[in-house]
Amino acid sequence: MRTPMIAGNWKMNMTVSEGSKMVKNLIPLVKDARDVEIAVCPPATELYLIKMVLEGTNIGLGAQNMHWEDSGAYTGEISPVMVQELCQYVIIGHSERRQYFGETDETVNKKVKAAIKLGLIPIVCVGETLEEREAGQTEKVCERQVLAALDELSAYEIAKLIIAYEPIWAIGTGRSATSDDANETIGYIRRIVENEFYDTAQMLRILYGGSVKPNNISEYMQQSEIDGALVGGASLDAESFAAIVNFK
Ligand code: 13P
Repeated sequence: MRTPMIAGNWKMNMTVSEGSKMVKNLIPLVKDARDVEIAVCPPATELYLIKMVLEGTNIGLGAQNMHWEDSGAYTGEISPVMVQELCQYVIIGHSERRQYFGETDETVNKKVKAAIKLGLIPIVCVGETLEEREAGQTEKVCERQVLAALDELSAYEIAKLIIAYEPIWAIGTGRSATSDDANETIGYIRRIVENEFYDTAQMLRILYGGSVKPNNISEYMQQSEIDGALVGGASLDAESFAAIVNFK
């Protein structure tokens, strides 16, 4: 049995005061949620305060990115050690980092390894562009990204991570993938892992992300391969994020 996960990626939104107010509103709204793992991923400047606010609740905390080195002369970066002091999760390889900040399959793999080494749970993002989808390359692109991200990891290590399938054309566009299409691609991703590690693939959680809202979450959650959602825009508001968490 794979425990469903609902994670909110706030991206570059909300100040410290806005973010802490949001989670204070969120806590009572999701406190009775059962059989679902919940996390919020605020900007790095908010992690410390939000960790304090979340103490003793059923909401986990994640960073949106990190470097792979433990420390050093990398101005502007945050390290896995810094993240590990505050968070349980870290999003790695989000398409916005790949598109705008030079993230590559190779850096994704380095970051995934660094996260696992420190006991952080990486939420590894993969997904195709609209051009790639229209050219029939969805599976090929996801396969390349997944294999690169998991390169040199053992079955034991892969069992600890989470993959998020986020088709780029569905992110922030209101144009979500149909639940059947998302299920098919996520099933395909599971088969890729199965080829090498059959049992691990059955344990591996794979989320869908891309315009998930309170009114479409249950469609995704009914699908056999989809183990939860990575939510952008709809995770910024306590009521709408709680409605997604409480989808049942
Ligand atoms: P939206 O839910 O705003 O489409 O964003 C999805 C996403 O990129 C989550 O990481």
